[in-house]
Amino acid sequence: MTKTVSGFSKFTKEEKLNWVVKTFFNNEKNTKEILHQYWNSNKVLQDLHDDFIENTISNFYLPLGVAPNFVINGKEFAIPMVIEESSVVAAASLVAKFWSTRGGFKAEVLSTTKIGQVHFMHNGAFNDLEAYFVSKKEDLLSATESITKNMRKRGGGILDIELRDRTSELENYYQLHVTFETVDSMGANFINSCLEAIAEEFEKDDIQIVMSILSNYVPECLVRAEVSCPVDRLYGENAEFLAQKFKQAVDIANAEPHRAVTHNKGIMNGIDAVVIATGNDFRAIESGAHAYAARSGRYKSLSNCEIKNGVFKFWIEIPLALGTVGGLTSIHPLSKFSLDLLQNPSAKELMEIIAVAGLAQNFAALRALTTTGIQHGHMKMHLSNIIKQLDATEEEKTYLLNYFANKQVSHSAVVEAYNNLKNK
Ligand code: MEV
Repeated sequence: MTKTVSGFSKFTKEEKLNWVVKTFFNNEKNTKEILHQYWNSNKVLQDLHDDFIENTISNFYLPLGVAPNFVINGKEFAIPMVIEESSVVAAASLVAKFWSTRGGFKAEVLSTTKIGQVHFMHNGAFNDLEAYFVSKKEDLLSATESITKNMRKRGGGILDIELRDRTSELENYYQLHVTFETVDSMGANFINSCLEAIAEEFEKDDIQIVMSILSNYVPECLVRAEVSCPVDRLYGENAEFLAQKFKQAVDIANAEPHRAVTHNKGIMNGIDAVVIATGNDFRAIESGAHAYAARSGRYKSLSNCEIKNGVFKFWIEIPLALGTVGGLTSIHPLSKFSLDLLQNPSAKELMEIIAVAGLAQNFAALRALTTTGIQHGHMKMHLSNIIKQLDATEEEKTYLLNYFANKQVSHSAVVEAYNNLKNK
């Protein structure tokens, strides 16, 4: 039987589901039941989710957790996090509490400029092109008047349009490099609409437009978050030694790309979880953050650490193009909830909160890695998850938790201990 189909997008949702199940599964009934189980009985809500994308056949749940006790610039927050990885929310909560008694997190937005580009080819003298650009610049701005009107009212709009000669990288390649302020919206649609209007106005016989699109590399949409405290308040015993070890872990991530990738992955555990919870685009954030980490020509840590005059300082600088209006933020009821929980931040405040979530996660990981090791905490969570799968009673659960308190946890070892207990 062929596994290709035509007119799939015209099928009803049930027809799509039936086709998928029939074509790719042997246990049709079972698979259908699983997919149907995740349909929401509230039709309005289900229709809303169906329409986010195309060809929807079910919903894919991820847990929404909350990490309380964050103090950021003196204000208290409980941070919503959507993530599938155990330990992340627990680590964020622990670290939030830890720093809440040590002055909290300080965060500051350094810049908010976003970028879009019209990429084009021109096979002629640069001087002529430049003269044409200068003569056209006002018209390019006028061409976006109706698109930028509302944004300008909110304090945003196009900041500048530059002609850039990129022929040293690619023959005949030039671009209009456009900078934007999009205030509280992420601005992707706004930027792309402006760019297309600019491109249309700019195009002529000897200028061949290739494409017009925003850039997710936003090194000028930057936020910094920081924690600091006297070294002797960082750890109980051995504070100086452990603080140095923590700093060495950051230095290693700065020196060694293999480690930097995992180090930054830990940061993104915190960042993505809040980005998703607030209805923002985590792929845009991810690609922008990693490009920034490689800005020196080598992939490095997004965070830094310093120990000076007995004071430990740990900070992150990361580009975050975020929105608190528009897009999914106002459509998805849980994004709206998340923003309400965060006391309806501006996009700038959300940048600060999310940078803090990343720094907190990085702090938790490095503290664990340079002391007990990461598996200690992970295995505790792993153990609870295995026990849950076994449908153990409360009594059996207590027994297993005690039994594995000082033993190596593995799925087979837990199942064996459980079976032995049952057979006793
Ligand atoms: C796991 O999701 C994240 C860590 O690997 C981060 C790190 O190594 O710093 C623990």
